[in-house]
Amino acid sequence: MQLQNTAQSYSTVSKVLHWWMAVLVVVCWMLGVFTSGQVELTSRAVTLFVHITVGLALLDVLVLRVLWRAVSSPPPAERAIFGIWPCIGRLVHYLLYAMLLMVPVTGIVLQFSYGKGLPLYGLIEIPSPLVSDATLANIMIEVHKLSAHALIMLAATHALTALVHHYVFRDRTLVRMLPGSDDS
Ligand code: HEM
Ligand code: HEM
Repeated sequence: MQLQNTAQSYSTVSKVLHWWMAVLVVVCWMLGVFTSGQVELTSRAVTLFVHITVGLALLDVLVLRVLWRAVSSPPPAERAIFGIWPCIGRLVHYLLYAMLLMVPVTGIVLQFSYGKGLPLYGLIEIPSPLVSDATLANIMIEVHKLSAHALIMLAATHALTALVHHYVFRDRTLVRMLPGSDDS
């Protein structure tokens, strides 16, 4: 098992964190959309609890991912791309990180703006520092919703770009993020 990223490939740690984060983003987004369409109060409360729990798990993985990135730098862009494209690729990664932080943070502010506490994995609840504020809640739901949809669209574009690298440019951009590419 390779712990550190090399010039050729992402390490096992980076890959596990990347794919775990990707699954959490998609599941959390689906739960958010599902929650907003629910009318029955009890099942809505359960789905919202699961949505918040998955969102908090995403925040935890994001912190680990960013710390790990600081310790172990990602490999340089593949040689198949030239000019400003590697810079755009890096920029998209930074944008993804920013959105991955923004969406859970706006979700937490939204929960507090309802005057409700934040359940931490069903263990304890952080009380809301805000009193219930319908105006703020209406603004925050729009900000949270828009940023969540923007994150999903950016992630989909990013995934599509990885597939273009693989099938059109035929370089190792996707392969080096997949399991089993450590020693290539
Ligand atoms: C700690 C993290 C999070 C918290 C506390 C949180 C909280 C909330 C709350 C309170 C709602 C409103 C439900 C309602 O009243 O209808 C909501 C909706 C939603 N959330 Fe989150 N969320 C978090 C993370 C995320 C993440 C990571 C995503 C996407 C990747 C996401 C996507 C959505 C979506 C799409 C909706 C539905 C908005 C709508 O159409 O009305 N949330 N979230
Ligand atoms: C919600 C889903 C996803 C999120 C949030 C996400 C996020 C990220 C981030 C932040 C990076 C930068 C890693 C770094 O260098 O620090 C990255 C790299 C990468 N991701 Fe994703 N990703 C997602 C889904 C996918 C999918 C579905 C694919 C493949 C089809 C994919 C393929 C890749 C590849 C190949 C890299 C390495 C790019 C390079 O070396 O330049 N990602 N991803």
